[in-house]
Amino acid sequence: MLSLSNAFNRQDMEDFQKKIKNFLNIKSNFELSSEPKIDGISASLRYEDGKLVYGLSRGDGIFGEDITENLLTIKEIPKYLKNAPKVIEIRGEVYIGKKDFEQFREKFANPRNAAGGSLRQKDSNETKKIPLKFFAYGIGDMLPKNFKTQSDLLAEIKKWKFPVNSLCQKISSIDEIETNHAKIETLRGNLNYDVDGIVYKVNNLNFQDRLGSTSNSPRWAIAYKFSSVK
Ligand code: IVH
Repeated sequence: MLSLSNAFNRQDMEDFQKKIKNFLNIKSNFELSSEPKIDGISASLRYEDGKLVYGLSRGDGIFGEDITENLLTIKEIPKYLKNAPKVIEIRGEVYIGKKDFEQFREKFANPRNAAGGSLRQKDSNETKKIPLKFFAYGIGDMLPKNFKTQSDLLAEIKKWKFPVNSLCQKISSIDEIETNHAKIETLRGNLNYDVDGIVYKVNNLNFQDRLGSTSNSPRWAIAYKFSSVK
């Protein structure tokens, strides 16, 4: 699994747009999918013939760690999918709600540590005691691949009954990026989960394929971080 490169201001976002236009050799603006960057633990869920067969955490970034039993305890994660492709991997973020975290304050420094600690438990009965939640934000392997955009993909993932963050939206101009950033930063304190920025992804999946990745991160996405503390 790769990580995301970061942006910290308007100029960084302008550079991101410019680089993409150069790479793709296009002049016009292109659409972005804007998604809150949930500060949890990433997980990948593999479904074969509609059944959840295994789930991995990021591990060392190359070989994921098998945490299937623990992921099965998360109520929000569907165990069976209806009308799904033969093989599909759903990627997303496991987190603990801020309110639920209150009762684990003594044991863990922050919600992210609580989610990580809970997912690493050897005994899934221990994991079950901590109410974990999940937001899906993408796919890995999928056969057959038949979506044109990231936003269509999120809509389909939602139909398969995965929670998709309600603040995801399509955006295109730099001004919209800035307005959206300010809006979500204001909402941030009132959300029941930690968000440490906004992920902007090139919405067109064909563009994403053409852009590909460097050795560290996809060229088609960036995390625009928030400046203030939570
Ligand atoms: S897309 C790099 N979308 O942020 C692979 N990641 O530094 C593409 N994250 O560990 C990731 N919310 O788990 C993506 N809406 C979102 C996300 C998101 C949180 C996490 C992800 C990864 C980290 C990337």
